[in-house]
Amino acid sequence: MEIIEDRDELREILNVWRRAGEHVALVPTMGNLHEGHLSLLALAREHAERVVVTVFVNPTQFGEGEDFDKYPRTLERDKIHLKRANVDILFVPAVETIYPFGTNAATSVTVPVLTEELCGLQRPGHFDGVTSVVSRLLSMVQPDVAVFGQKDYQQQLVIRRMVADMHLPTEIICGPTLRDEDGLALSSRNQYLSEEELKVAPQLYLALQDIGKELQSGNDDYAALEQQATKTLEKSGFKPEYVSIRRAENLGEPDRETDKLVVLAAAQLGNARLIDNIVVEN
Ligand code: PAJ
Repeated sequence: MEIIEDRDELREILNVWRRAGEHVALVPTMGNLHEGHLSLLALAREHAERVVVTVFVNPTQFGEGEDFDKYPRTLERDKIHLKRANVDILFVPAVETIYPFGTNAATSVTVPVLTEELCGLQRPGHFDGVTSVVSRLLSMVQPDVAVFGQKDYQQQLVIRRMVADMHLPTEIICGPTLRDEDGLALSSRNQYLSEEELKVAPQLYLALQDIGKELQSGNDDYAALEQQATKTLEKSGFKPEYVSIRRAENLGEPDRETDKLVVLAAAQLGNARLIDNIVVEN
């Protein structure tokens, strides 16, 4: 595995691969890799001969007072995982490499509408940071495919929209959410949970599953289902930000005719902000 910090060095290797007719898959991450990230590497490998992983804790997607400073940075351990997974390139750019004109003067990429609700409402500017960094990574690597997780449902939709709207020639692929045995979605932020909170955290997924069962049995009182789940989460000790039933395709308001729904939730538990979602086919 080559470990590269420099953009031009990256370009040179990519050019050699391209001339040899090899396909490239990109898996962007912020590091602190867990099994969820590693499952995306395996998916990437199914689609391309070459896999490039980026580890970059992107400052522009963290709001003021969020966890940019304390976000877990475990590069040495990440390298071991990535080598084992036979990744071809680990790209670890500096902030100045990604944003050569500084983060304040950086060209910003915005996907309107889709980013104006759910996590976008709770974290103003967050998705602009995500699209601003992912668009740069796609420009730098020019991959045939890029792999993201369903765990960040709104994020992958926003990225798909950006790619479609900007005519970027990369196919976006989405891998399923990996969970602990108790159902808790794997996340770097689970480390912020105390032992007690870790016992409570799986309730978030259980609440989504309860809604899923109701939807499948024909209950279409979405508002009541959302409210009930919110109350249940509050009782368990969460501070819910939202529980929302949407159209899976575009996060629009669903109606009885919608055949694919997504149930999304975000909730604060102790020091961690947890998000999760499930897709429900009717
Ligand atoms: P990060 O949180 O490191 O996640 C990197 C990728 O792993 C994302 O596509 C995310 O959806 C996926 N992922 C996270 N937890 C997962 C799980 N339990 N199962 C499967 N996949 C999972 O998301 C980001 O980084 C950043 O916003 C990024 C896209 C890299 C832009 O900075």
